Order: sequence, then structure tokens, then C-alpha cells
Amino acid sequence: MSRQKIVAANWKMNGNRELVEQMYHGLNQESFNAEQQVIICPPAPYLASLQANISNNQVAIGAQNISENEKGAYTGEISALMLKDLQVQYVILGHSERRAMFHDSTELVAEKVAYALASGLTPILCIGETLEEREEGQTESRLSYELAPVIAKVGIESFKNVVVAYEPVWAIGTGKTASAEIAQQTHKFIRSYLASFDADVAQQVPLLYGGSVNAKNCEELFAQADIDGGLIGGASLNVEEFKKICLAV
Ligand code: 13P
Repeated sequence: MSRQKIVAANWKMNGNRELVEQMYHGLNQESFNAEQQVIICPPAPYLASLQANISNNQVAIGAQNISENEKGAYTGEISALMLKDLQVQYVILGHSERRAMFHDSTELVAEKVAYALASGLTPILCIGETLEEREEGQTESRLSYELAPVIAKVGIESFKNVVVAYEPVWAIGTGKTASAEIAQQTHKFIRSYLASFDADVAQQVPLLYGGSVNAKNCEELFAQADIDGGLIGGASLNVEEFKKICLAV
């Protein structure tokens, strides 16, 4: 069965107005494969201007986080409903940087995924093991530990509206991409784990690889059977390189 191909850009806390302009000019001119989705996740201050200026209907906008609360006295937080109000369609949740630095526990990530879904946003749920966990043979237990609370909270059926991104922590921002073989093996495990709950749903969930993807290594990664695209950090800050990655999927 053919799953949607997705290339998503996670700018993290990078970029400025100049990059926003370069990005929409560059992407508006490009025609992508009809079945593919390109997603740009800039820092929150740039969501509205990107959304207003993107005219390519294969390009959607995503946020990098949401509050688990609907509204109220939560200084500094951004709600899912505000993002919906801006016509944002996706939100990255459970990124390892948020899990490590901002106390996003597996339970909190599950709550945020539930809230995103209830608000009509599509979560891009990030999971991944550390180098130590991989070396100790704990990769699969780490990935199931991160997935299980989300499945328990929202139910496997809801994964029809979830994108999962496998991002090994040791490959993020390090230049050490997982080999295509390791990435495929791990994606296959993730799909089989989801299939242990529901085989049909598992076949439908787009699984993205993230971690030092660039214009040179993306083709081999995207050619793997269970890799449906990528979540791109550093290389998404260069419009020309990012477009090459989008065209390779
Ligand atoms: P890099 O592509 O910079 O390694 O970042 C990957 C990532 O964390 C995307 O969410």
C-alpha cells in the first residue's frame, strides 16, 4: 500500500524574516510530486507570515510544540487552538530536545498528542534512542517505551492521523546519520510494534527518519521500504538544499 511521502523541516530555534522570505519564494516556485507533502515548522513568531505567503498547496505549516492546556494563565505557552486559528496543520511533539531539556515526559507527550488530535492538528511524534541505549541493545525497548503511553492515551485507531518520526538522538546535529540499513531495520521494528496493536493502521502511518539528513544521503534513506520521508533539522535552513531533499523523496 502506498503511504504519503513527507519531508518536514524543523528549524528549531533558528531562522529570521529573511529565511522566511527565501523559503516561501523558493517553495512557491517548485512543483513537487502530487502525492507528497512538504511541511515547514519554523519558530512560533514566523508561523503567521509563512502561512500567509505560502501559495504552493503541497506545502503545509507546522509548529514545534503546544501546551497541553487549552487556554488561561500559562505565560509563554501556545495553545493548539491558536495554531488552528492560524491554519497551522501539524505540530512536532516529543522531540528529544524537549524530552531532555524541557521535561516533556512520555506521559506529557501523550497528553499533548491527545490534545493536538482533539484540536484537529496532526502530531509529528518523535521517538528515538540515545547512543548508550543503542550500544546496550535497548533501542527497541526505548522506542516501545516512548510509543506505549501515546497508544494507551489516544488509541491505535488515532494513529491514522499521526506521523511518527524516528530520530536517533546520536544522529541529531552530529553529522552521524544512521546507515540506511540501520534506519530501515529500526523503522521496520516501529511498524511491527504498531502492527501488534493494529496491522492496518500500522501500514498507513508515515514513518519519517530524522538525524543529519542532507541532500547527499537522503536518496538512499528514502529508498528504504519503511522510510516514508524525513524530518530535517540543519539542512532545512538552506532553501536550495532543502528543496533537493524534498525532490528526492
Ligand atoms: P539535524 O537534521 O540537524 O540532525 O536535526 C534533526 C532533527 O532533530 C529534526 O527534528
